[in-house]
Amino acid sequence: MKHLPENSADIAALDSAERELYARLDPLRLPQHIAIIMDGNGRWAKRRHLPRFIGHRSGVQTVRGVVETAARIGLSFLTLYAFSAENWKRRPQAEVEFLMQLLRQYLKQEVPRLNRNNIRMTYIGRLHELPQSVQERLQWAEEATAGNSGMVLTLALNYGARAELVDAFRSIVNAARNNGGIDHLHVDEELVNRHLYSRDMPDPDLVIRTSGELRVSNFLLWQIAYAEIYVTDKLWPDFKGADLLEAIADYQRRERRYGGLAPAESNAQLEQSEDSLRQQEVLVSAK
Ligand code: FPP
Repeated sequence: MKHLPENSADIAALDSAERELYARLDPLRLPQHIAIIMDGNGRWAKRRHLPRFIGHRSGVQTVRGVVETAARIGLSFLTLYAFSAENWKRRPQAEVEFLMQLLRQYLKQEVPRLNRNNIRMTYIGRLHELPQSVQERLQWAEEATAGNSGMVLTLALNYGARAELVDAFRSIVNAARNNGGIDHLHVDEELVNRHLYSRDMPDPDLVIRTSGELRVSNFLLWQIAYAEIYVTDKLWPDFKGADLLEAIADYQRRERRYGGLAPAESNAQLEQSEDSLRQQEVLVSAK
């Protein structure tokens, strides 16, 4: 059973640009879960002839702002792709160490603010491969915010969707082994869901990617099967709460079909098939 937070909006706390954008949204059709691929810290720094680490530091400021705006509008789940498993392997050691340091610092500074905003922090990814000091800080922040009942903020750390599926399949096999053996195993989507890192959250309704790349980069591949995707050219450090609200406005203009027809189309289709059924009946009774 996926837990739904008791989340209430605090619109008065939005800034004036955000309030204006929020007024154009339908609060009853907010996405329940937004997942963000935060990209472009390096390019943001490069354009300013600054070292990459300044871009990452600025990216953390954006995380702060976006998390607060999301909580203020009453979003239930926000998931941020902070470090991919590939980042971890393919970035220079010094940059990885800097990112780990930044994460430790962020967690320490952020917990009081998360508590003020009633936000609960969780994680997905192969956390056990992160440095011990980071793992300890992660656990501390999770425990310190565990009593909050508002938005669930999930950081994807050392995360890769294929690795998540591999871990899920391993976990299914292990559970079966301890529970009557593989012969009794009934595999369906619900079972796979229950073994994913994301088992306690609903699937994302909206995926946002900054910096213009049209890729999903091994992020939540199973969970985003029916998600709407919004890509902006803005680099992550330039992305603000107002941009989050723009993305939600764009999402609300779309029609989600989950593989079905649009309501208007499906009514027309129904009328058409009723007509052709009637014609066939006339033909049969005329014979
Ligand atoms: C992409 O920038 C972003 C990342 C490597 C991860 C995002 C990290 C942060 C926002 C900072 C740390 C986050 C937390 C929660 C403490 P990039 O370097 O890939 O940019 P580029 O593609 O322009 O080079």
